[in-house]
Amino acid sequence: PKRVRTRHFQNAKAAGTPITGLTSYDQLSARIFDEAGIDFLLVGDSAGNTVFGYDTTLPVTIDELIPLTRAVALAAQRAFVVADMPFGSYESGPLEALHTAVRFMKETHAHAVKLEGGVRSVEQIRRIVGAGIPVMAHIGFTPQSEHGLGGHIIQGRGDGLEQLMADALAVEEAGAFAVVLEMVPSEAARLVTEKLRIPTIGVGAGPHVDGQLLVWTDFAGFSTGRIPKFVKQYADLRGVLTDAVTRFRSDVADHSYPGPENSYD
Ligand code: KIV
Ligand code: NA
Repeated sequence: PKRVRTRHFQNAKAAGTPITGLTSYDQLSARIFDEAGIDFLLVGDSAGNTVFGYDTTLPVTIDELIPLTRAVALAAQRAFVVADMPFGSYESGPLEALHTAVRFMKETHAHAVKLEGGVRSVEQIRRIVGAGIPVMAHIGFTPQSEHGLGGHIIQGRGDGLEQLMADALAVEEAGAFAVVLEMVPSEAARLVTEKLRIPTIGVGAGPHVDGQLLVWTDFAGFSTGRIPKFVKQYADLRGVLTDAVTRFRSDVADHSYPGPENSYD
């Protein structure tokens, strides 16, 4: 299959064809999503929650994300793979940001990087893009600043719309090829999407955006804990796996596994 590139994102927006993205943290899920035709795979720092068991994304390190990103990038034949830059790996300035982005590009085979922040991150975006590395921006609710924002709070409401629009225009100007809008009202996302030339990717941003992204363990019913309202449940993987492991345990307990068909003569 022909690899998705940044121009695919641009063409999709122009054609009105919705872009699809999922997070992925390992080669097994990456292969499935890639073969199903998902356009891009984000190796998110949401791995902090989904893989590593932290309460927030804040403790996630570059060293933790690199092997996961490499596994996804090696598995994906068609999908565009985006490496998420963790908290503390780019805020100090453009040079730190470039250094981190270069590490991801050299060590993981990813095709782009993502970082959080609008106006506050423009120097970082400009520097990374200037080195030939595509940047996906991320504005609205930005989990790495959840303490500063005061929790998981919808952004871009009321007066917040002005800030959201300023952030969106700033990242486009800085050279981002796409921008994630997380947890913003549908109407705000629509206004931003109409204003921007680059595609908007919504995660909890309603239908009027250029693409949709979800955390895969949420959409597939694999995650524990509270699932946000914007996530539609497409499967019950927890249920499926709980049933499988319960049957395995009971088969072993009553000696019905392994039978002759699972044993060597
Ligand atoms: O880490 C992540 O999964 C993300 C998306 C939810 C935008 O940043
Ligand atoms: Na993230």
